[in-house]
Amino acid sequence: MNITITGTGYVGLVTGACLSEVGHQIICYDIDEEKISLLNQGISPIYEPGLDELIQRNIDHGRLTFSSSAEEAYSNANCIFIAVGTPANKDGSANLSFLEEAAIQIAEYINEDTIVVIKSTVPVGTNERIGRLIQERVSPHIQIDMVSNPEFLREGTAIHDTFHGDRIVIGSNSSEAAKKIEEIYTPFHLPFVQTDIRSAEMIKYASNSFLALKISFINEIANLCERIGANIDHVSTGVGLDKRIGINFLKAGIGFGGSCFPKDIHALNHLAKEFDYDFKILQSVIDVNRMQKELLFYKAKEHFGSLAGKKATVLGLTFKPNTDDIREAASLQLIQNLLLDGASVTVYDPIAMPKVEKLFGDKISYAVSSEEALHGSEVGFILTEWDEIKNIKLQDIKEKMTVPIIFDGRNCFKLEEAQKYGIQYYSIGRPTIN
Ligand SMILES: NC(=O)c1ccc[n+]([C@@H]2O[C@H](COP(=O)([O-])OP(=O)(O)OC[C@H]3O[C@@H](n4cnc5c(N)ncnc54)[C@H](O)[C@@H]3O)[C@@H](O)[C@H]2O)c1
Repeated sequence: MNITITGTGYVGLVTGACLSEVGHQIICYDIDEEKISLLNQGISPIYEPGLDELIQRNIDHGRLTFSSSAEEAYSNANCIFIAVGTPANKDGSANLSFLEEAAIQIAEYINEDTIVVIKSTVPVGTNERIGRLIQERVSPHIQIDMVSNPEFLREGTAIHDTFHGDRIVIGSNSSEAAKKIEEIYTPFHLPFVQTDIRSAEMIKYASNSFLALKISFINEIANLCERIGANIDHVSTGVGLDKRIGINFLKAGIGFGGSCFPKDIHALNHLAKEFDYDFKILQSVIDVNRMQKELLFYKAKEHFGSLAGKKATVLGLTFKPNTDDIREAASLQLIQNLLLDGASVTVYDPIAMPKVEKLFGDKISYAVSSEEALHGSEVGFILTEWDEIKNIKLQDIKEKMTVPIIFDGRNCFKLEEAQKYGIQYYSIGRPTIN
């Protein structure tokens, strides 16, 4: 089978590289010529642990190629996986323009019966609509079969997740097409969930919404813990060890960000409204997260009154560790708030500095290490629990900062340690060390 992957972002590139690793012949296509040029030199345009080596190995074996020519990508394809972005529109609905553009190009260049697999996260009904859009544009003897195959990988562990995922969801109204896609994935030895198209589309939104709900739920418990003198670390462990609940996604913090949860829950909420359904829990998840993302800033405001003139340090800028993705990261909102309040801001992140510099330019300062960022600082914020940040020595914080006070959105340090080193330490859902 000639397989084309459309979109070489976090999902498309990892999927293409992993499918080539198990022996498939893959062309990865992207409209971004710069990305394709880097990839043709064996350089990954995104940071994902293990990805550079995986790409290089499969280029060397001749199984993985990259192209920015739609004709080259589609004219011999019999199976196309679409993994383009589906960002949020202003009203919260999913923006499907990249997907539609891809569909129009596919229709222009394919020459034979084709299975079109949508991996992008899309509202229920999209696969059917895209299928019609392509079918109407191709000659009548070409048959288009649609397969919804939502993706569940997580940035930072994307390769591991692809090879060791919990399930592969395949939704199609054509059992033949579904079988062919199952065959493509067979070397991964993962459980399959075969379903109709609409249910497959819904599985993705329901999964992300449920995970987001767990996060907002534990964050509310954390906020309550602070008020009543309990410790969320102990509470999460005690709750999570109940197998019916599970320990994952019960880590309190400054809310969820990234390119998926925020936009996906908004899109599901929007979809519900379109169908006259008031999805009350989902709306609360959104509201709680909005509040949680600004929590550290407001804790600092409460402590200082005003942050005007303060030298502030922000450590960790990505929405989670082990990725360079800063989409919807809480750090961006915090930096904005600090600047608006008149603070001077120095930031450090092990990977994402260039991306943040593109956004903030010379409005903030960029340090080459967390130590440098903390030097002379009067207030420190921790936003991402990179190992490097968790391993900062509290002695260093004490010595480097003019006033050792930390607002930690990821509960990186033990309370006893903060106490021992005389650091004022605000974290999430735990007693404050003053
Ligand atoms: N990032 C994740 O962790 C993750 C996980 C699961 C699902 N998803 C979903 O997968 C989809 C892709 O997400 P992503 O993070 O990989 O996006 P991304 O923004 O990193 O990559 C999308 C790529 O598509 C390319 N593109 C846009 N239009 C194109 C076209 N017409 N033809 C070819 N290429 C085109 C862009 O240039 C870009 O390189 C989204 O729907 C997302 O919700 C993402």
